[in-house]
Order: sequence, then structure tokens, then C-alpha cells
Amino acid sequence: MKTLRVELGERSYPIHIGAGLLGRADLIAPHIRGKQVMVVSNETVAPLYLEPVLAALGGFRTESVILPDGEVYKNLEILNRIFDALLEARFNRRCTLVALGGGVVGDITGFAAACYQRGVDFIQIPTTLLAQVDSSVGGKTGVNHPLGKNMIGAFHQPNCVIADTDTLNTLDDRQLAAGIAEVIKYGLIRDAGFFDWLEQHMAELTARKPAALAEAIERSCRNKAEVVAEDEREAGSRALLNLGHTFGHAIETATGYGRWLHGEAVAVGMLLAARLSARLGWLEQAEVERIARLLEAAALPTRPPADLDSDRFLELMAVDKKVLDGGLRLVLLRGIGHAVVTDDFDPAALRAVLDEAAGGD
Ligand code: NAD
Ligand code: GLY
Repeated sequence: MKTLRVELGERSYPIHIGAGLLGRADLIAPHIRGKQVMVVSNETVAPLYLEPVLAALGGFRTESVILPDGEVYKNLEILNRIFDALLEARFNRRCTLVALGGGVVGDITGFAAACYQRGVDFIQIPTTLLAQVDSSVGGKTGVNHPLGKNMIGAFHQPNCVIADTDTLNTLDDRQLAAGIAEVIKYGLIRDAGFFDWLEQHMAELTARKPAALAEAIERSCRNKAEVVAEDEREAGSRALLNLGHTFGHAIETATGYGRWLHGEAVAVGMLLAARLSARLGWLEQAEVERIARLLEAAALPTRPPADLDSDRFLELMAVDKKVLDGGLRLVLLRGIGHAVVTDDFDPAALRAVLDEAAGGD
């Protein structure tokens, strides 16, 4: 097992990464202050992993709430089910919530913990690669609103993150690849050495070799923990974690949530950001090709949907929440391992990149 720390003063917390951690009472119990624990999971993950987690919580008064599975349920109505369960069980301010599942369960549970009785403790047990390398770390919690994704939320840090790499064995290949997109993101934005490592080890990752997965998760979490420690509330550098996301959100919205997974849309978005960076003279063409090859090796898409023309693409990008005061700001690359947030680009270059990419998928 490897343990990293997110350094946030008195709100610092450990991230444990390794095989066979779900049932480890010694990892979870020290982070529970009271006696009451509510485990939140969903109908897919609970049958697989709830039992060992409940067993590890043997010394506490434990309840569970099982949510329906899907991004479409990350909303205020389903959030209320968690509050109902907490109130029905008469849980007090010293209770702890445990999120057992992917990013959807993690985000909604974290938000419930941020709100219940003005804030209670919570623990993340992420079970998708995406959740292990990204969403469980950093304290962004929330739910979707019909008018926008992740629009209702709070910053609320967990007390501990336990990433059991064994849980990835039951994840399907598409979900695994979607998580790998976020792993590649860390290499692109701030860790060129990690990008090199990924080029050498991608086949082991897609084959789910435990050592390679553990290394990738650890290096991803190390990068995320550093970014969060530097800029917890996204006043500046944390925005770099959104590389590819403005393009990606446009793809997700255009195709209706579900046809493309978030990580798949981000993969295409990162490549479009790289192409725009190359057009601006900031990135070598050879580097763009390296990025495309790595995404392909991860079985990720590299072209946007065929039916998304550049007019619609630009329109959807303009409603992304990273548009500040009317100007479109993007995360672009000054090299592999060096991302910048900027509005200093020629809109014609962006349109040209989208025109060139149109007609894929
Ligand atoms: P998800 O939570 O929907 O999980 C994907 C699917 O895998 C679901 O059907 C889930 O039930 C299933 N699943 C989970 N673990 C499994 C396992 N071990 N075996 C088999 N099936 C399993 O999706 P996700 O990709 O984990 O997370 C996406 C969500 O995360 C989005 O809502 C996104 O907004 C959010 N997110 C949040 C942050 C953040 O910083 N808070 C960052 C990135 C993404
Ligand atoms: N996933 C983006 C962030 O945590 O800031």
C-alpha cells in the first residue's frame, strides 16, 4: 500500500492506494469521530463491495443507503434520499458518511456531508479509475441541475480516501479507458516524465496489470494533491485540471449525456486543445502526434462526433462555465507537461481546428 497526503493544514488527509484495502478497519476507523456511519453506494456497486466495507465498520452503528445508478440521478431529488436516511436513523452532527462508488456517488455523498447539519465528516472509497485518480481527491462535491452539470455544490474535503485497486477488476473496458484519459491529463498539464512513463506502460494499464495501475493511480493522485494544496478553491492553477473539458463538455451536451463517457469526451478535447496549441505555435506537431498515439493506445476516441459541426461546437463551448465575463478561456499547452489557462488565442484558429476535426466518429 502507498499513502499520500493532501496538505491542507488541519484539513489535511491521507490517500491510501493498494490492493485489498476495502475491508481494512485499521484504515477507516481512525477517521471516524462519532459512532454513527452512513455508507452511501449504488445498486451496481453495493452488491459487489458493500459487505466488506460494512464488516470493516463492525465497531460502529452503521446504516446504508443505496442509490440508483447513473449520472442522471446525481440530482437534488436523489440527494434528499440521503438526508431522509440520515434523519430517519437520527444521525447527529458527529456522524460520518462513506461514499462507496464512482464519481457520481462520491460527488453526491460529499455534498450531502457538506450540507447535513451544516457539515459532517465523510470518507471516500472510490471504485472507478476516474474516481480513484480524480473525483475522490480535492473536495469538489455537488449535483447537477437541469440547467447545468455540477452547478449546485460545495467544497468539502474528505477525512480520508481509500482507493482499493482490486475494485477495478469489475469495471468494464470503456470505463477503465475513460479513467485513463484523466490519468493522461496529469502528464499533459504538469508532469512530462509521467507522460513518458505512460507511453511506455500503456499496454500494461489497458491489460490491468496491478503494478502499473497502482503506479498510475499514485502518480495521478500525487499531481492532484499538489494542485489542490496549491489552489484548493480554484482561484488559479487548479483550473489547469480542466484541460480538454470545455471541448469535452460541448461533446457531452451535443450527444446527450450517456452516449459519450466524460473521459472519452475529455480525450478528444485534450487532443483539440493540443491541435489549437500547435496552430498557435506553442506545441510541436510531433508532440500532437505523440498525444494522439497515446490516446489511441488507451482505446480512447480521437475525433469528435461526426454530426457536431464547428458552429454548434463553438456555441456549446461558449456556455461552458469557464467563460468569464464573455471571453472564452481555454486550457492550452505550451509543451507536454506545461499547460496554461488563456484567452489569448485567435478565434479563427479555434474555428479552423474544429473545422479540420469535423467529420470524425
Ligand atoms: P460513475 O460514478 O457513474 O461510475 C461509472 C459506472 O461504473 C457506474 O455505472 C457505476 O455504478 C459503475 N461502477 C463503479 N465502480 C464499479 C466497479 N468497481 N465495478 C463495476 N462497476 C462499477 O462515473 P465516474 O466516471 O466514476 O464519475 C463520473 C462523475 O464524477 C461525474 O458526475 C463527474 O461530474 C464527476 N467528477 C467529479 C470530479 C470532482 O473533482 N469532484 C472530478 C471528475 C469527475
Ligand atoms: N476535476 C477538476 C478538479 O478537481 O478541480
